[in-house]
Amino acid sequence: MKTQTSSKKVISERVPTGVKTFDSLIEGGFKRNSVNLVVGGPGSGKTIFAIQFLYTGMVKYNENALYVTFEEKKEKLYDDMLSFGWDLKKLENQNKFVFLEYTPEQVKKLLVEGGGIVESIIEKYKIKRLVIDSITSFSLLYSDELAKKEASLALFEVINNWGCTAILTAQENKIDERSLSSSIDFEVDSIILLYHPRVDHTRSRAIEILKMRGTKHSGRIYSLSIDKNGISIKPGH
Ligand SMILES: Nc1ncnc2c1ncn2[C@@H]1O[C@H](COP(=O)(O)OP(=O)(O)OP(=O)(O)O)[C@@H](O)[C@H]1O
Ligand SMILES: [Mg+2]
Repeated sequence: MKTQTSSKKVISERVPTGVKTFDSLIEGGFKRNSVNLVVGGPGSGKTIFAIQFLYTGMVKYNENALYVTFEEKKEKLYDDMLSFGWDLKKLENQNKFVFLEYTPEQVKKLLVEGGGIVESIIEKYKIKRLVIDSITSFSLLYSDELAKKEASLALFEVINNWGCTAILTAQENKIDERSLSSSIDFEVDSIILLYHPRVDHTRSRAIEILKMRGTKHSGRIYSLSIDKNGISIKPGH
């Protein structure tokens, strides 16, 4: 998805997420090699969104994927994702997908010592799409805001050097501008918010692009649904 001027200068390269109609709201996808934060409460769709991004990369764009998690269990995740027709086991057997269970302490160590296991996996499997699900437990390792911010910046720098397009997920029970600016006050290329509010006796789902650098994006909040094909966004709602 390269867009080139006549002087062959690459002006923008987009990495489609595969989330229906979402890509059209962000000029075709995430910027290549960007770090993107997906924020939402429990059950808001963070993991499904992140895996859909990886799955699209593997099956449509021949981009290998690494999923690093502190919380999800492999067998359970593979089983859950099969309900969308996403066979992660098969992709793992084809060396296109790597599942890595990691502790927040290991990530902390990685920042001090350099790449470690993650870097060697990225090189060995030629990983182009990366997910860390979630960074909440990692940031909890740091007690004061400054240390948290420094660690987050160090993590983003490491990810940038890996040459991957990344999604980091973050747990935030009550999304409002104030809590975001205090707890997720760091330098990512984009912030996507997933809402799952209760209205009377039912819960609805919605998505908002809070920021995306270098992108003319929509400022609206859109309805989101999860069905047998994964996540999709209803245009115009
Ligand atoms: N096959 C499916 N069809 C429709 N909806 C589904 C399906 N599978 C899961 N869901 C919905 O998606 C929700 C889980 O989404 P997901 O695991 O991505 O949330 P999450 O934000 O990662 O949550 P957590 O913070 O607990 O990790 C379920 O609670 C359910 O409402
Ligand atoms: Mg999850």
